[in-house]
Amino acid sequence: MSVPRFALVGAGVIGKHHGRVMSELSDRLELVAVADTVLDRARSLTDERGGRPYGNLTDALAAEQIDVVVVCTPTGLHGPIAIEALGAGKHVIIEKPAETTVARTDEIIEARDKAGTLVTVISQHRFDPSTEQTLAAIAAGELGRVSSGIAAIDWWRGQSYYDSGDWRGTWELDGGGALMNQGVHTVDLLVAALGKPVEVFAYAGTLAHERIEVEDVAVGVVRFESGALGVLHATTSAYPGLSARLQVHGDRGSAVIDNDQLAFFHSTPAGAAVEEKLMGSTQAVSAAGPATASSNPGMLSDAHRSQYLNFLDALTGAAPLRVDLETNRQSIAVITGAYESARTGRPVTLA
Ligand SMILES: NC(=O)c1ccc[n+]([C@@H]2O[C@H](COP(=O)([O-])OP(=O)(O)OC[C@H]3O[C@@H](n4cnc5c(N)ncnc54)[C@H](O)[C@@H]3O)[C@@H](O)[C@H]2O)c1
Repeated sequence: MSVPRFALVGAGVIGKHHGRVMSELSDRLELVAVADTVLDRARSLTDERGGRPYGNLTDALAAEQIDVVVVCTPTGLHGPIAIEALGAGKHVIIEKPAETTVARTDEIIEARDKAGTLVTVISQHRFDPSTEQTLAAIAAGELGRVSSGIAAIDWWRGQSYYDSGDWRGTWELDGGGALMNQGVHTVDLLVAALGKPVEVFAYAGTLAHERIEVEDVAVGVVRFESGALGVLHATTSAYPGLSARLQVHGDRGSAVIDNDQLAFFHSTPAGAAVEEKLMGSTQAVSAAGPATASSNPGMLSDAHRSQYLNFLDALTGAAPLRVDLETNRQSIAVITGAYESARTGRPVTLA
């Protein structure tokens, strides 16, 4: 393949961000089509970024030579659009979460296996240097036995956010609230750090917003196959909006990532003895300097570009794909399991 030809479906908030990333990577890919059911949105993106506007993916596929389809529509439409693209033999990039349920994610996995093409799900925070350093330390045993973790998203979304699109805050198209839409990134990092989740118990409530079906606060606990235990706390009701935070603790070290930055990091390299401490010190040992907390917790980082670069390298066989559908499926299983638990009042075993 020479330079792969991309089609973007969904020219909304995140679609525009993908457009910018594609412009930045114009030596590695070409944007040939943008499809949005609101044609003006597609047109304004092609005016800015290139390619031709279409009202839907079907028309774009019929008119253009396309190698890769990028799906940036509301979550509950990811499946049908990705499956149409895979049916036409295309590679696919899907915004997070892959779909609203595990069963719908499995339908995309089945279509991908039939097509034999590549599919990545955007999970850009896996590409943050803070995440890479933490996961590398865990893999090298430098945090020792990882026994617990906390995924906390303490954000604020005003009523105007939920009112800004018919699909927001609905089960059918958003798939959930604070834990699914905002929290999936941090849940994904918890899973990356602690391994395979096997059971979840949760409570959820809609406590600070109106006219939404889904939760704006969820808390829960997760048990992992390794025996490690995790805590979930996701809210869009924490005014004025604080941070997304991951804590990971082991018997040779701990890491805290706050708003994508390493706020605390302590590891013990292989071969080095752990200092015997009667009680731990609370003094932070930071490998990356002080955390620079973002004033805008929802701010998108350059990490999308890093994930695009990994996808482009995987297309040419130069690197393995770092985030696939199976990766994202685990987070969707934890989140939908948490919802089932909150509904039934019982712990849910994850298949
Ligand atoms: N990775 C991240 O940090 C991040 C951030 C924001 C949103 N997202 C994800 O991106 C997705 C979209 O979110 P958004 O905030 O951009 O939503 P949005 O409502 O701003 O944009 C969605 C766009 O899709 C279009 N659309 C709807 N149905 C379509 C169809 N069948 N064909 C073509 N276009 C269609 C809409 O007209 C709209 O322009 C969601 O899955 C969301 O979870 C990810």
